[in-house]
Amino acid sequence: MTLSDSGTINASLGNSASSRDIASVLHPYTNFTAHEKTGPLVITGGNGIYVSDESGKNYIEGMSGLWCASLGFSEKRLIAAATKQLETLPFYHNFSSRSTNPTIDLATKLLEMAPVPMSKVFFANSGSEATDSAIKMVWYYHNAIGRPEKKKIISRKRGYHGVTVASASLTGLPGNHKLFDLPIDRILHTETPHFWREAQPYESEEDFATRMAEALEDLIQAEGPETIGAFIAEPIMGAGGVVVPPRTYFDKIQEVLARYDILFIADEVICGFGRTGRLFASETFRLKPDMITVAKQLSSAYQPISALFINEKIYAALKKGADEVGVFGHGFTYSGHPVAAAVALETLKIYEEDSIVDHVREVMGHFQKRLRDLNKFDKIGETRGYGLIGAFELVADKCAKTPFAPTGWAGKAVAELCLTEGVILRAMGDSIALCPPLIITDKQIDDMFDKIEIALTKWHQSI
Ligand SMILES: Cc1ncc(COP(=O)(O)O)c(C=O)c1O
Repeated sequence: MTLSDSGTINASLGNSASSRDIASVLHPYTNFTAHEKTGPLVITGGNGIYVSDESGKNYIEGMSGLWCASLGFSEKRLIAAATKQLETLPFYHNFSSRSTNPTIDLATKLLEMAPVPMSKVFFANSGSEATDSAIKMVWYYHNAIGRPEKKKIISRKRGYHGVTVASASLTGLPGNHKLFDLPIDRILHTETPHFWREAQPYESEEDFATRMAEALEDLIQAEGPETIGAFIAEPIMGAGGVVVPPRTYFDKIQEVLARYDILFIADEVICGFGRTGRLFASETFRLKPDMITVAKQLSSAYQPISALFINEKIYAALKKGADEVGVFGHGFTYSGHPVAAAVALETLKIYEEDSIVDHVREVMGHFQKRLRDLNKFDKIGETRGYGLIGAFELVADKCAKTPFAPTGWAGKAVAELCLTEGVILRAMGDSIALCPPLIITDKQIDDMFDKIEIALTKWHQSI
């Protein structure tokens, strides 16, 4: 079959990269019908916080790709680290007591950096795999310590933890469940701590946080505390619309978890490594997790790698279980891949040597101010964020907070106008997320928001 025989390809695209893409690539998180009409945006180059497409047009990557390219798109040290490791040892695995120096060095470094005392680091390739590994370790842990009934895991509506069968079940977004026959059993979802959207009239942030913790406790009571094994949360929800919890929310949630002896998994896949102006958001929000997942900024996304930290209590139970079974029956071919580990290690060195977290603290105030300034637009209901992550939410009526119907058209339209102006952002329904590379400067922040304001002005004039 030739490309033109497929019948779905826009004839005007010819045998271009676009038409070949439409004919051959199944895109994640894409509307296939729309994609067949418009084709892809083919990105061909990167420089600092900018990427460029095949026509040579430059864009500010206001989302660091997918919340990940923290050091931008042209960090030579990471390229050198990958090349050196490829020349030394391009692959070796970690099964059956085998190891490599980059894996050992990276695990050692991560344990030094951990926000709370941790015992071991398990490596995987994606955030989803890290989440799945955490789920399996929760189950293994409770079996090993003789509490086989304590297996349910509580996540939150609008939380995002990945797309594999189990991690997608934890993800609390309808689009990740519908038609996929998810969630699987033993997975529960509690309330979203989004004050602006979910608080009752006249409820204070403090009272709202208390109500969120009570909702969690009610769920635990209804299910039976002896059946609840763990709770998982992103410190700041990302893909669910960038939701920053009220100040005391996690203090109250952690009190509930402690009361019922429930493990806490912090999903730092977006927040980890500086996003909130601290190395880990667990420091920002005073979290004391038993396990932490990280990915994305771990390698500035230059290599696919994720990691799961486990504390000594978990490790001791896994060891006991593995002694009974013979070996710990979990791991990926590429767990601790030496090239990915070498790149991640170099990324962490750059964070330290270039004081990237201090830099985030220096620019985040300006970023948040320019974000809050967008409140002047008539159709922006809320701007929210912390550190170098944020979102603005478009609404039909600002005072009544009335959402647009159907959901999503406004977000899509504004994101497309921003793209035309040269800024890549991500629409999640009618919330538009911003998560620029951590190396962004004040001047670049101004440039980005100036362009967003032009796009928003054009859009307001058009509706
Ligand atoms: C908080 C969080 N956890 C987990 C994941 C899943 O990561 P991946 O897409 O690498 O599987 C993501 C992805 O965006 C995420 O934002």
